[in-house]
Amino acid sequence: MIELAFSILSADFAHLADDIKAAELGGGSIVHVDVMDGHFVPNITFGPPMVQALRPVTNLPLDCHLMIENPDQYIPAFAEAGADLLSIHQEVCRHLHRTLQLIADHGMLPGVVINPATPVDTLIEVLPMVHYVLVMSVNPGFGGQKFLPFAAEKIAYLAELRKQMGLNFRIEVDGGVANDTVASVVEAGADMLVAGSAIFGKGKAEQNAKKFLKLARAAAPKPSSDSHSHTKDKPAGKD
Ligand code: DX5
Ligand code: ZN
Repeated sequence: MIELAFSILSADFAHLADDIKAAELGGGSIVHVDVMDGHFVPNITFGPPMVQALRPVTNLPLDCHLMIENPDQYIPAFAEAGADLLSIHQEVCRHLHRTLQLIADHGMLPGVVINPATPVDTLIEVLPMVHYVLVMSVNPGFGGQKFLPFAAEKIAYLAELRKQMGLNFRIEVDGGVANDTVASVVEAGADMLVAGSAIFGKGKAEQNAKKFLKLARAAAPKPSSDSHSHTKDKPAGKD
């Protein structure tokens, strides 16, 4: 299922509840919360108190993207604050398996994130334990950056690995995903689409979300009618 995870980073912080409502009316179904510490990324945003403040204003799942060092130290606080999904960067985790386990132990759905320069293969061992993989399509730290097209190739490779390994984690993409780039990531296999400036930038969030989702869904691979996927092999010599 294609879903819009709208990033509040580009919303109006003085009217967050209204902005969330508007994006939800437009079809957004996940609230993406970008947590930055000024160390792992060159920007500072907010932490568990923001999650706690948002919890009563929406029923949508809160997807917290931790761009912080020492995530283990803050996992209990995010759980307590009401986070539903929690993702951590591969690049900061010395013991990635342990950190993902800790997230699950705190009742949240664990996700792992890779920066543009980090290969998908660094995740193979932990793929069976994640609910989602977030492929960054910009270097994290700021909203409104330009989409890096090679992220789509990483998504396609990850989708292929998922099939080979018989897993069903979701694929999220974040950074520069907008009306002109969304088709490429959906075609590659992403189904949780993070968008900040495309939703809260120019115009109205509700209309922006509707338009964005329409474009995304139009690009979604159609479920095959001959249900060849599990039972029959593809024609030989195709690729
Ligand atoms: C970037 C953040 C993103 C950001 C996306 O470091 O992780 O979630 O808000 O913003 P846009 O959609 O404007 O690229
Ligand atoms: Zn993010």
